[in-house]
Amino acid sequence: MSQLTSFLLVLSLCAFAPLCFSSKTKGGYLYPQFYDHSCPKVQEIVRSVLAKAVAKEARMAASILRLHFHDCFVQGCDASLLLDSSGSIVSEKGSNPNRNSVRGFEVLDEIKSALEKECPCTVSFADLLAIAARESTVLVGSHTIGNARCTNFRQRLYNQSGNGQPDYTLDQSYAAQLKIRCPKSGGDQNLFFLDYVSPTKFDNYHYKNILASKGLLNLIKFF
Ligand SMILES: *[C@@H]1O[C@H](CO)[C@@H](O)[C@H](O)[C@H]1NC(C)=O
Repeated sequence: MSQLTSFLLVLSLCAFAPLCFSSKTKGGYLYPQFYDHSCPKVQEIVRSVLAKAVAKEARMAASILRLHFHDCFVQGCDASLLLDSSGSIVSEKGSNPNRNSVRGFEVLDEIKSALEKECPCTVSFADLLAIAARESTVLVGSHTIGNARCTNFRQRLYNQSGNGQPDYTLDQSYAAQLKIRCPKSGGDQNLFFLDYVSPTKFDNYHYKNILASKGLLNLIKFF
C-alpha cells in the first residue's frame, strides 16, 4: 500500500471514529444510550452477573465500585487497570496501591464473556467497568430494603478494630438499641432492618442513615 493510500485510509477511519465518541448532545462525549442499538441488553446482562456475584459475596458491589475508581487514576477511566504486568513493565494492576487489594477481576471477566456472546466486539472494557460500577451503586443502594443478621455487624458494636472498642462512627444510641438483640455472644441469626427508618421502602434513607451514622453495615470498610 502506498503511503498516500494508507494516509487516506487512516483519515477515513478518523472520519468515522467520532461516531463512536461523540454525543448526540452538543458538548458532551458520553451518553448512557450509547449501546441502545448495538447492544440493547448490556445493562441487563451486567446487572444479572453482578447480582449473582453480590448474592454470593455482598462485599463485591463495593469492590467493583472501588475497582472503577482506581482505574480512573493514571490518565482516565480506560480499563488500563485490567492489564497484567509483563516482563519488566509493572502495570497499574501490579502497582503498589492495587496489588493484592483491588478485587473483582473475575466478575468483570464473567460479564465480558456474557457480553461477547450477546454482542461480539461491541462493548469496550472501559465502558463495561463504568456500567458495572453504576449497577453496583444500585445494588449497594438496595440495602435500603431487607435485613442483616446480628453476626454481620456484631463487630461494630463490640470490637471494631480488634481492641475491644466499638465503632464510634456508629451513632451510640442506635448502637445501644442494636445491642439488645445482638449481644456479645449468641443471637447470631437475629435479623435487623438494614434501613430502620423505612425498612420496606426503596428510597434513599439508606444513604441518609449512613450520613446520620446509623447505617447498619459498615460499608465504608469494604472500600
Ligand atoms: C477483639 O478482637 C481481637 C482480634 O480479633 C481479639 O483478639 C480480642 O480477643 C477481641 N476482644 C474482645 C473483647 O472480644
